[in-house]
Amino acid sequence: MPIFLIKSFLSLVLLLLTLLAMFTMFEVLGRTEKRFNVTTLIRIHRLNGKFYFALYLIIAYFCLDFILETKGEPSPRATFHGVFALAVIVLLLLKVSFVRFYRQFYGYVKTIGILIALLTFGMIGTSGGYYLLTTKSGTDILFKKVTEEKKEAPEGAGIIVKTDPENIKKGKELYESKCFFCHDPHSTKTILGPGHKGILKNPLLPVSRKPATPESIVAQVKNPYKDMPSFAYLSDDDLLNIIAFLNTL
Ligand code: HEC
Repeated sequence: MPIFLIKSFLSLVLLLLTLLAMFTMFEVLGRTEKRFNVTTLIRIHRLNGKFYFALYLIIAYFCLDFILETKGEPSPRATFHGVFALAVIVLLLLKVSFVRFYRQFYGYVKTIGILIALLTFGMIGTSGGYYLLTTKSGTDILFKKVTEEKKEAPEGAGIIVKTDPENIKKGKELYESKCFFCHDPHSTKTILGPGHKGILKNPLLPVSRKPATPESIVAQVKNPYKDMPSFAYLSDDDLLNIIAFLNTL
């Protein structure tokens, strides 16, 4: 099972913990006549918070590991996700400090609790939720769409550049095993082939001067312009992943 799928499922657990936290908080602070034993509810709420924190750290570890490995510019979606995630953790620490030490601020705890829940929905919606929606147990629906369109269109036309961490990571691995020998991803200096920094951001490809589009890159990899060996054996999936990685350079 790909790590991003595992992470998405873990984030659903986080969602359940959030719902439980909301429920216990509303039962304790929101009702005049209590339905359940308040001490038990508080105990559940605290334990729940600890699980939430631990799970958050585990998921955050995977995210940070990915950022360090790819060093890619985050997509707008990933940026929102990161902002939500940072806000959640800061608010959570603030809330705990108000409950434990700064009791004069206790009045804010309710509001902060609700904010944390809302931000958690945002945080999961922009990452795990998105991932589960666009993939089907790891098989990418978007990818299927691309290959179906390609049957009618000329080779490589209509490619949707992927920005999902999983694709970029796979692309990076492929790149390192197949392209790294001749291309420098961090500059435009030529080794045997031109450096690939900003390859999809410039208007033209460096050697053939074709438009710098995913389509031209597919064409280059399958039927190289001049001296580069052909990688026609790479599957469409591999090509999409390599393009996802090139797009981060
Ligand atoms: C054995 C060396 C070698 C390897 C390995 C190699 N390339 Fe190249 N690449 C070249 C050379 C040489 C050029 C210059 C253009 C040409 O002669 O085809 C080039 C050019 C390119 C260009 C620019 C094309 C243009 O029109 O300006 C792209 C994009 C590219 N390579 C992608 C890749 C990718 C992706 C891989 C890995 C799957 C790869 N290359 C592996 C040697 C290599």
